[in-house]
Amino acid sequence: MRAISCVVPDSRDAILITGAAGYIGSHATLRFLREGRRVVALDDLSVGRPGAIEAIRGAAPGADLEFVRRGITEVDASWIRGRGIGAVLHFAARAIVPESVARPELYYTVNTAGSVALMRACLEGGARRFVLSSTAATYGVPPADQIPIRESTRQDPINPYGRSKLAAEWALRDLTAASAGSGFASAALRYFNVAGCDRTGVLGEDHDPETHLIPILLHHVLGRVDRVTMYGEDYDTPDGSCIRDYIHVDDLVEAHAAVLAGLGDGEFRAYNLGRGRGSSVREVIAAVERVTGHACRVEVGPRRAGDPPVLVTDPGLIDRELGWSPSVPTIEEIVGSAWAWFRNHPEGYRR
Ligand code: UFG
Repeated sequence: MRAISCVVPDSRDAILITGAAGYIGSHATLRFLREGRRVVALDDLSVGRPGAIEAIRGAAPGADLEFVRRGITEVDASWIRGRGIGAVLHFAARAIVPESVARPELYYTVNTAGSVALMRACLEGGARRFVLSSTAATYGVPPADQIPIRESTRQDPINPYGRSKLAAEWALRDLTAASAGSGFASAALRYFNVAGCDRTGVLGEDHDPETHLIPILLHHVLGRVDRVTMYGEDYDTPDGSCIRDYIHVDDLVEAHAAVLAGLGDGEFRAYNLGRGRGSSVREVIAAVERVTGHACRVEVGPRRAGDPPVLVTDPGLIDRELGWSPSVPTIEEIVGSAWAWFRNHPEGYRR
């Protein structure tokens, strides 16, 4: 498949942001609007929050934002071309590991087939940059001598979520190679544990159901959850709990800007996005207690299926190649930014 003709990805092009009403997509939408870019924000609101779009409109009055309530398979080449879309940040996805085990068809339909349909529409519609949200889950359980994880670490996912994203990565790489000469370029960004909230206080994290550690702890602090279960304390880690690499959502979004600026025509690149520092579940709980001043009621439960013991990246490649490195250095600052939003929005975007 070949792009018929291409929109040059310059500052007059629109950026299409899928999943724009979701946690990460909303932060990206606000960031690029604040930079003065034209943004077409796409979300079918199956998971995303209308309140996130309202918050963006309130924080960026007069910004060039078009919100379209539609699924990623419901846009075609003429829709892309008609809006002058030059670049796509594709956040829309299903991203809950246990759900992917129970409903793999949903994950392959949305994350793999849906992404390929969108890639095709973008290529044929003349968009020249495509950035796919991928995940650390594509690495599965790397051997201990492969920690920290580099982009060269073998990708061997252990659940349908990771496999559905890895398949999308392969498709993007192959479609990029097949469109050589058209100017199309793409990247797969493998997120580690994205956390924290917009440091200007406009946007937050509002999932239903909530499955992530930091929001669950903050819901507990706010009295919305009676106690928190720590999934396993017998891992082969210094304190027995799982270790993750938490990266602030603002830093993550900034990496997308660096990738859009740095991708050269015809390239496909893959980068890991993390801080390069691990925090155990116990350390995150301690950080939440320090930041909020609230002692958490934590009970130890069995391990959660599919949890790798340690997922920490070495984010050096994107730093060396594109000059991006995370600016929020500590887990306390990440938790602090989340706490600032949660205490003002105890019921998420509903209030
Ligand atoms: N955890 C608890 N109790 C909870 C929730 C989480 O102990 O109530 C633990 C988990 O077992 C894990 C850690 O906290 O050890 C972090 O869990 P999260 O659910 O916050 O995040 P995950 O590491 O499971 O998920 C992230 C991304 C996924 C991605 C996955 C790759 O959010 O999209 O990493 O393993 F698939």
